[in-house]
Amino acid sequence: MLSNVARQSQWVQCVADVSHAEPSTRHVLRTRKQKIKDFLTFPLRAVALFEFDRWGLTSLRSERFDYAAPEVRGHCLDVGCGRHDLFIAKYCRRHGKGIDVYPYEGLTEAHLVEDITHFPFDDASFDTVTFIASINHVPRSKRDIELAEAYRCLRDGGNIVLTMGKPVAELAAHLAIYTYDKLFGTNHDVDMERGMEDGETYFVTEREIRRRLTSAGFVDIGRKLFWTQWGLNRLYIGWKPQLSARARLPVGHLPPLDSRLREAPVMAALGS
Ligand SMILES: C[S@@+](CC[C@H](N)C(=O)[O-])C[C@H]1O[C@@H](n2cnc3c(N)ncnc32)[C@H](O)[C@@H]1O
Repeated sequence: MLSNVARQSQWVQCVADVSHAEPSTRHVLRTRKQKIKDFLTFPLRAVALFEFDRWGLTSLRSERFDYAAPEVRGHCLDVGCGRHDLFIAKYCRRHGKGIDVYPYEGLTEAHLVEDITHFPFDDASFDTVTFIASINHVPRSKRDIELAEAYRCLRDGGNIVLTMGKPVAELAAHLAIYTYDKLFGTNHDVDMERGMEDGETYFVTEREIRRRLTSAGFVDIGRKLFWTQWGLNRLYIGWKPQLSARARLPVGHLPPLDSRLREAPVMAALGS
């Protein structure tokens, strides 16, 4: 029998030991039929299914993972991973790392980052960085710092993926989960468990997300609506440009930073 410590260190080893192949998420993603059921039952799900799938319906947590997973481009860093590091474990098949500031159930030392203003990873060591329902929990004064860290840890051409609901939906969701826990004695509210810090907020506006992503250096910022949540929740994607290729160009000959630079070498973007 393996001791707990041995089992844990084996598990940590397994988390650390990941390759750079594209993960397949097809095994966990929802079918179209499931999405239609989830769309029709959204009001019920919004007040009763926070973390666990039940009654043949998808929880809000699984749903945000379901939207974020197809945007992952390879080795993924999930910032503010929450209990059990589920996004990396299940939706990325452990092909990446989850980090957090609080020792939630299912996390080990390997997940905890004492000084979150410095991500303990090398430059350009991830293909995607995700902030799933977590950017509002980064205190305001640290948001730019953490986004700059995400940028540093991403490879050129990699992407950042954030999910954040509309302000009114985020306020309603936090209230619903708080009320549910009070009524039924459950413990779904991870923010209550940790205790919110000064500068954390219940939502971040689209304007703020775009502004902070732009000032961190991300380009081609796009948005996708969660249609199964009636458009009330969203996903934002930004890209780290192929700066190393740009840096090789003589000053005054830089092409505009657009989507072509993500996919194609700079010379192709220049048309030569
Ligand atoms: C609402 S939970 C989301 C958890 C998980 N990503 C999910 O979607 O279920 C917000 C998470 O942000 C984490 N968090 C708090 N402060 C943070 C910070 N400064 N940087 C990154 N994450 C932070 C919390 O500990 C928590 O796990």
